[in-house]
Amino acid sequence: SLEKSLRPQTLDAYIGQTKIKHELDVYIQAASGREEALDHVLLYGPPGLGKTTLAMVIANEMKVNIRTTSGPAIEKPGDLVALLNELEPGDVLFIDEIHRLPKIVEEMLYSAMEDFFVDIVVGQGPTAHPIHFPLPPFTLIGATTQAGSLSAPLRDRFGIVEHMDYYTIEELQQIIFRSSEIFQITMVASGAHELALRSRGTPRIANRLLKRVRDFAQVENRDDVDQEIVSYALDLLRVDNRGLDEIDLKLLRTMIEFYQGGPVGLGTLAANIGEEPNTISEMYEPYLLQIGFIKRTPRGRIATSLAYKHLGIPEIKGE
Ligand code: ADE
Repeated sequence: SLEKSLRPQTLDAYIGQTKIKHELDVYIQAASGREEALDHVLLYGPPGLGKTTLAMVIANEMKVNIRTTSGPAIEKPGDLVALLNELEPGDVLFIDEIHRLPKIVEEMLYSAMEDFFVDIVVGQGPTAHPIHFPLPPFTLIGATTQAGSLSAPLRDRFGIVEHMDYYTIEELQQIIFRSSEIFQITMVASGAHELALRSRGTPRIANRLLKRVRDFAQVENRDDVDQEIVSYALDLLRVDNRGLDEIDLKLLRTMIEFYQGGPVGLGTLAANIGEEPNTISEMYEPYLLQIGFIKRTPRGRIATSLAYKHLGIPEIKGE
C-alpha cells in the first residue's frame, strides 16, 4: 500500500538520524559477519520521528523477521511467552512504548534478554511448578518517548541505546519530496520548504500535512504544490509557520498572560488549559523546548523572548 511504501526499507533510503544510521550500519555488519543476533536496541525520543520504521529497517538489514507489539498490549507473562515462542534465531521482537510494560512482564524480560530463557510457573497450588524455557538468540528493540521512565535494570540490558532527534528543515524537505513522488504530487521547492517549516521536525506530521495539502491542491486545480497552496491549506488547518497548533499556542499564551511568562508548574499549566500533564510533557513540550520557546527551570517552565516575539506580545522585563 501507499502508506506502507512511505516507510523506507533500508538504512540508505532512511533520511536523517545520520549518526544513528552510521552506528547501526557498523553493528549490523559486525553481527551479520559473526552470524549472531544483533544486540538489543533501545530507541528513545519524541513521537513520530520514525522509531518503528527504524526497527523495521534494522530487521530488514539483518535479513530476519520482525514481530511487533507494544507495552500496553502485553498484559501478562503468558502474552510475552507466546510472542517469544514464535521467534526464530536472530529475529527481532519490537516493543513500542516499552515503558508501559507491566512490571511482572518486564521482570520476565531480564533473563530473556540476558541469557535467552524464561522461567514460567505452570499449574496452581500444590501442582504449581517452574518450567525452564530456553529461547533462541533474538534482538529486542524497545521504543519509548520517555527513557527516564524505564527502570534501570531494563535500560541496562540494552547494548545499543540511541536517542532520536528532531529532523532538520533540509531533512524534512527530502522526506517531503520522497513522499510526494510516492503520492504522485508535483512538489516544488518553495512548497516543500514551507511544509517542512510547519512540520515541527517530525516526518509523521510532514506526511500527514502533505496529504491534506494534496487535497487542497486537487480541489483548487493546482498542478504544482508551491508555497502559496501549502500556506493556504495549513493556515486553514491552523498550523502556523513554526508548526504550532492551537494547543501549543494556548499553552504559550497561558504561560505569558496568566503567569507573566512563568515559572509555572506542569500540573498548574495542565489544569489551566484542560490537558493531561503527560500529554503536555510528552507531546507539546519537547518541540517547544527544541525551538527555544520554553525553558525548564527548577521552579517550573518559563516562556522565552522567542515565544513572546512569535505571539507578538511585548515582553515587559524587570520590575
Ligand atoms: N518517511 C518517514 N520518515 C522517513 C525517513 N526518516 N526517511 C525516509 N522516508 C521517511
